[in-house]
Amino acid sequence: MRGLKDRVAIVTGGGQGIGRALVLRLAEEGCKVAIFDLSTEAGEETAALAGDATVKTYQVDVSDYDAVNAAVESVEKDLGPIWTLVNNAGWDKPQPFLVTNPEFWDKVIDINLKGNLNTHFAVASKMVAQGGGRIINIASDAAKVGTSNEAVYSACKGGLISFTKSIARELARKNVLANCVCPGPTNTPMMASVVGTGPDAEKWKDAMVRGIPLKRMGEPEDYAGIVALLASDDGAYITGQAISVSGGMNMV
Ligand SMILES: NC(=O)c1ccc[n+]([C@@H]2O[C@H](COP(=O)([O-])OP(=O)(O)OC[C@H]3O[C@@H](n4cnc5c(N)ncnc54)[C@H](O)[C@@H]3O)[C@@H](O)[C@H]2O)c1
Repeated sequence: MRGLKDRVAIVTGGGQGIGRALVLRLAEEGCKVAIFDLSTEAGEETAALAGDATVKTYQVDVSDYDAVNAAVESVEKDLGPIWTLVNNAGWDKPQPFLVTNPEFWDKVIDINLKGNLNTHFAVASKMVAQGGGRIINIASDAAKVGTSNEAVYSACKGGLISFTKSIARELARKNVLANCVCPGPTNTPMMASVVGTGPDAEKWKDAMVRGIPLKRMGEPEDYAGIVALLASDDGAYITGQAISVSGGMNMV
């Protein structure tokens, strides 16, 4: 893709799952990539898979405002001006809303909504000052169609889409473009921790696949191309969108 060589990208949650696939693709396209993840070990595993590409891991909890700001400053010193921010880190523990409690809501909101505000706040001002940049937020089709047992998480993802559209309007004249990519059910460690293993897990997955026209779950690599495109010069006329990449599960 055009315009990615030597550009600096931050990918939050790049240690495993979808984030890892995004890091590897951006690195393959010639970007210098900074991984922000809770787990340094997982981040370093991803970096090792990128071979000779420049991929550096920063141990960051995205819900920690000060830690995010400090890490963003380090990325600029270590790798240069930041062109792309990919907000991918996310977390949930699916359970019926009526058995949850306010502490749980706070944790889900801190990671899945406020974490993104922290990274936008730290990075977008730098993008404005340098005359441009790309923000790509990994939301979820759960935001568009709802999902049982993930009500607070879905609310955060819906909030992230609204926030992205608003920021896209605010920053368009500064050449800072912001979009969401909305995955459907995807085979990642997060999914494995939710559905477990064995015959029951397979039944759950079969039920999910029945609702997907392309008749398979997503794989982390399914999101890498669209993210690279949105970060590249080929994505220069796309902003404020929430693009579903979910095998046709959701067509709005
Ligand atoms: N897997 C799915 O079915 C699915 C579907 C729709 C959307 N998504 C979204 O895609 C994104 C990636 O999901 P995944 O399935 O690859 O998840 P995952 O749990 O497999 O990986 C998430 C990564 O984020 C990191 N992380 C979690 N909390 C963090 C924090 N506070 N600060 C920094 N890093 C943190 C984890 O350490 C991990 O490396 C998430 O935003 C998720 O909501 C996933």
